[in-house]
Amino acid sequence: MAQLCSKPTTAMFTGKTHHSCSFLFVVLLCILGFYALHYPQSAPSSSALRNALRFRQTFLSAATNRTIASYLRALTLHPHLAGTKPSLETTSYVETHFRDYGLETHRVEYKTLLSYPAHASLSAHFSNGSYVELPLMELGLPDHQASQGLVQPYHAYSPSGSAHAKAVFVNYGRDEDYLALAALGVNVSGCVVIARKGGLSRGAVVEKAEANGALAVLLYAEGERFRKGFERGTVMKGLGDPLSPGWAGVDGAESLELEDSEVLKRFPKIPSMPLSFEAAEIILGSLAGAPVPNEWRDTAPLLQSKVGGVGPGPTTVNFTYQGENKMATIHNVFGLIRGLEEPDRYVLLGNHRDAWTYGAVDPNSGTAALLDIARRFSLMMRSGWNPRRTIILCSWDAEEFGMIGSTEWVEQNLVNLGSKAVAYLNVDCAVQGPGFFAGATPQLDSLLLEVTKKVKDPDSEAVTIYQQWTATNTDISIQRLGGVDSDFAPFVQHAGVPSVDIYYGRDFPVYHTAFDSYEWMTNYGDPLFQRHVAVAGVWGLLGLHLADDSILPFSYLSYADQLKEGYRNVWSNLLDTPVTLNPLMTSIQEFVTAAKEAEIEAKKLREQETTSDLVTLKKRALNDRLMLAERGFLDADGLQGRQWFKHLIYGPIDYESKLQMFPGISDAISRARNMSERQGQAIIEHEIWRVARAIQRAASVLRGQFT
Ligand SMILES: *[C@@H]1O[C@H](CO)[C@@H](O)[C@H](O)[C@H]1NC(C)=O
Ligand SMILES: *[C@@H]1O[C@H](CO)[C@@H](O)[C@H](O)[C@H]1NC(C)=O
Ligand SMILES: *[C@@H]1O[C@H](CO)[C@@H](O)[C@H](O)[C@H]1NC(C)=O
Ligand SMILES: *[C@@H]1O[C@H](CO)[C@@H](O)[C@H](O)[C@H]1NC(C)=O
Ligand SMILES: *[C@@H]1O[C@H](CO)[C@@H](O)[C@H](O)[C@H]1NC(C)=O
Repeated sequence: MAQLCSKPTTAMFTGKTHHSCSFLFVVLLCILGFYALHYPQSAPSSSALRNALRFRQTFLSAATNRTIASYLRALTLHPHLAGTKPSLETTSYVETHFRDYGLETHRVEYKTLLSYPAHASLSAHFSNGSYVELPLMELGLPDHQASQGLVQPYHAYSPSGSAHAKAVFVNYGRDEDYLALAALGVNVSGCVVIARKGGLSRGAVVEKAEANGALAVLLYAEGERFRKGFERGTVMKGLGDPLSPGWAGVDGAESLELEDSEVLKRFPKIPSMPLSFEAAEIILGSLAGAPVPNEWRDTAPLLQSKVGGVGPGPTTVNFTYQGENKMATIHNVFGLIRGLEEPDRYVLLGNHRDAWTYGAVDPNSGTAALLDIARRFSLMMRSGWNPRRTIILCSWDAEEFGMIGSTEWVEQNLVNLGSKAVAYLNVDCAVQGPGFFAGATPQLDSLLLEVTKKVKDPDSEAVTIYQQWTATNTDISIQRLGGVDSDFAPFVQHAGVPSVDIYYGRDFPVYHTAFDSYEWMTNYGDPLFQRHVAVAGVWGLLGLHLADDSILPFSYLSYADQLKEGYRNVWSNLLDTPVTLNPLMTSIQEFVTAAKEAEIEAKKLREQETTSDLVTLKKRALNDRLMLAERGFLDADGLQGRQWFKHLIYGPIDYESKLQMFPGISDAISRARNMSERQGQAIIEHEIWRVARAIQRAASVLRGQFT
């Protein structure tokens, strides 16, 4: 944002622009301040309201599936992995469109460590002496997309290495799976582990296999629909450029050595690769040894019919992988519309642009929607609209390697974001299939629901998304943003910015494979591009409300409810322990009171008809409290052992945990299992105190009073 701020900016509460850092600036401010005090704006707020409503209507009625389809077609002509040449073409495509649509356009580059495959080989050797070379790449792609520039399946940041050893099946590769194997007398040490995607992240599967002494890992997705596809993906731990952990990897900045222990600890030590379901069947079908545990047979057709045993062997796997880590330039692109009244308050809409392959679903369905929002905003600007606050459309690079583009930018702009970012609205895979899904930090729940009442459902006539959403779910469920699977993670978990994430469909079969193409989208994902239109509608309307509403549409009552639910969850998990939860309870009660007061104050100010300077200032002051309350949940020390994660309510939680929030408490509960009761109680209570203090900080920000 440093770059963004060197441009002319707009004085708060006025429409005049000025250049910062000059004497003129001070003089102008005084003059404008005088004007503002003596000549309150004349437009009554009801007409401003009507205007905002009119522009939201314009936004919705300007929707066209044709434009979205054409953006998606153009973006997915070639595979465009981050750091490669075709990826630069998509960068220019987005940049040119932002510029043509009249947005102020910026490109911000970073030099970061990316990882690419060089060579791989894989064969299965059977007990009868025969062997087969296993496929290493999707076969059966339509000719016209013949694999020009398509990266072979690999795990980014896997070390190079080889292994020729007995294969062993470890189910999802969780701790409990290794325990089940141990109970069968199976030791995976010195073997090549075959695991299926399920409970754990890719990186965690490899980490646990490594801890159990495996030589290499092959990871597949179970099911006929995954038969020929390979799920590419990263196995790096943590977010952002591994060479600049916690700061921005701009050209010339401090960069750690590859051998630095801080860097090494983020990469696995044993090599791994994705495997197609077809190849997994060949290996697993020829294993002997102890029979597959019954609990593993649950949903798995392959296991039920074909797997002879868990191994190890007799089949061996001969596996080689050579990759190279190299420095690459990545490009974030920004399109900005300066706010008229509050240019120094920012509403960000973001989506990543880089893809493992063609990226029709992941992520360019989202990019196409973002470009259509830019197009519609430009139409609105031409008919006189100008947002109250500044809107920034963000197109991130290198998300697939570990949210690198967004993380570097958030790290670089941490204080500006901390003091000025109202909200971050993320869309990654906008359309994966049917059905609306959303995640949000809870103060945005009510806005999300309101907005879905204004957008037509793409798959049924005369019904809104909201109606369809509530009709198909007994309980509307809004997910929370504690995971690290898209670019909202640095915004929420490092910077404490209220965020939303929306998409249509889930669990799509071509995820990270060469089949994630425009053809798949038009055949299966969204043949009429109406789901794209729906996502763009919700996304854009969220942005318009956050940018234009005079009082920010945040409700912390919903946050309070979530905290109470989290409390009950912790309580039921610690029932048989002497741990006291009183501090947590007390802080939540404080938060509830603050949330109720803020709600009342917001209602009163919304009803204020006059736009006198005093009322404007009062609104601004309340808005700041609403914006900053989320920051209260951040803790400077972060989560123990993973300090980059600053948010004590939402953050990645171990899959075995029974908690859905409070990652620090969850960590402490699991660490306590290894300790004496007294020690355990002490570390859990310490984490409870930390969370309680964070909730108190948020409550105190919301209240806006010193103690
Ligand atoms: C598995 O085998 C390795 C190597 O033979 C050995 O070091 C390790 O202790 C064994 N693990 C268990 C749980 O028996
Ligand atoms: C050897 O075993 C494999 C796996 O069971 C089987 O597919 C193959 O047909 C066998 N080859 C011969 C020559 O028997
Ligand atoms: C294993 O693969 C490597 C690399 O392709 C090859 O050089 C080696 O001969 C193979 N070993 C066996 C036993 O097939
Ligand atoms: C857009 O939607 C209309 C109506 O559903 C449909 O007839 C048309 O084929 C769609 N266009 C594209 C490009 O999908
Ligand atoms: C518990 O202690 C053992 C042995 O010291 C260690 O290997 C393991 O990682 C610990 N587990 C946790 C959850 O800290």
